Amino acid sequence: MVAATDSGGRAGALWGGRYSGATDEQMWAFNASIGFDARLAQVDIRGSMAYARALARASIISHDEASILVEGLQHVAAEFSDGTFALRSGDEDIHTAVERRLGELVGPVAGKLHTGRSRNDQVATDVRLYVLDAVAALDAALQSLQAAIIDHAAAHIDVLMPGYTHLQPAQPVRFAHWLLSFFWMLQRDRERLAGVRQRANACPLGAGALAGNAYGIDRAALAADLGFAGVTENSMDAVSDRDMVLELLGAGAILGTHLSRLAEDLILYASAEFGFVRLAEQYTTGSSIMPQKRNPDSMELVRGKTGRLVGNLTRLLVTVKGLPSSYDKDLQEDKEPLFDTIDTLQLLLPVVTGVVATLEVCPERTSAALRDDLLATDLADYLTRRGLPFREAHHIVGRCVLLAEERGVGLTELTLADYGGISSLFEADLSEALSFESSVEARAVRGGTSRAAVLEQLERARALLGN
Ligand code: ARG
Repeated sequence: MVAATDSGGRAGALWGGRYSGATDEQMWAFNASIGFDARLAQVDIRGSMAYARALARASIISHDEASILVEGLQHVAAEFSDGTFALRSGDEDIHTAVERRLGELVGPVAGKLHTGRSRNDQVATDVRLYVLDAVAALDAALQSLQAAIIDHAAAHIDVLMPGYTHLQPAQPVRFAHWLLSFFWMLQRDRERLAGVRQRANACPLGAGALAGNAYGIDRAALAADLGFAGVTENSMDAVSDRDMVLELLGAGAILGTHLSRLAEDLILYASAEFGFVRLAEQYTTGSSIMPQKRNPDSMELVRGKTGRLVGNLTRLLVTVKGLPSSYDKDLQEDKEPLFDTIDTLQLLLPVVTGVVATLEVCPERTSAALRDDLLATDLADYLTRRGLPFREAHHIVGRCVLLAEERGVGLTELTLADYGGISSLFEADLSEALSFESSVEARAVRGGTSRAAVLEQLERARALLGN
């Protein structure tokens, strides 16, 4: 009898015992995940070392055997980190590859490591450990971007520019206020990641294939050994659950959407038509045909790559949607989107941080863009403060805007006599109220555009970063 052997070296596949023939070659390649899950090597080995210790604590193996396994696993980990681990064609996935190599290093005792464990609780553990590490790294990258935003906002606190709704000039705002709006989006992204961490922080090991562990291992001690906050409560849920991956992909897609909107603003503001900012040379590229070009490719790629972040979430949601309970091989499809979202964000975040930190602001262009009609709301506010219901004030200001348009002048260029002809409530102090500075300063509420309000916002932002 031939046990799952073939020319590709599948001899002794972990599950080969009940097999009499070889797996189809294409099926083998189709089934294997080693091509992408080798990235789990370090977390997989961490999990195995802890499991070996748990087996010893439960007296399933001796402490000496556990030491042999742990030392062998350390050796395998070192091979992965220094790039000397040699894959064999029979290595189906990271779990079997590590176990195969462990056997070569320590002999038959390696065969005791998998006692009571399944690749189902093993991979669920690996993925959670990987997600926890990724969340910590992403949070650090997000904090760097937030710090760059704070520094840049603080440096340009006095620059005013048009704020837009519908991409139509709406009301004057501070440049710092616009930029800080992204700080808060990123803050919520960090909170979402913290939520992912909280829910991923339970150890599935001990769930077995789906029904639990028959060897009485101490799951709480095992979880603590791995640094988990606790254990999963239901073995079937533990091997089914990929929520933590979906949540990370969801948080990543939302974060990408925020970065993409920042990128879009910067692309617009760096255009010749706006000219509010210039992207540093090192974050732009030239054109092969048009010598004058300075293209914001960095920001275009941020916007573009957000598509794959959204796609990664969608693709795994669709994969998981119709699965019957507990483990199904479909779940192996969780890894590529997970890795891709992490990699993509780890590429995007430092670039966006660099772009923000080196952004040149052009105050002469932002102030040139401050058109008088941005003050129409302030004109209405002026009348409202003099007792007119806002709706009527809105109507009267509409007539002022019309008059200015007919004359081909701005609102600040109409005379007091012009205003007086429209409403007797307009008085000499009107010219004071009708300035961009007065407009932003009038909005002194928390979260508003006045200098003091933005400074207070900066303080709150700094406090959240702990500086
Ligand atoms: N490579 C598999 C995965 O990523 C590991 C678990 C395999 N489990 C199994 N019962 N075949 O999901």
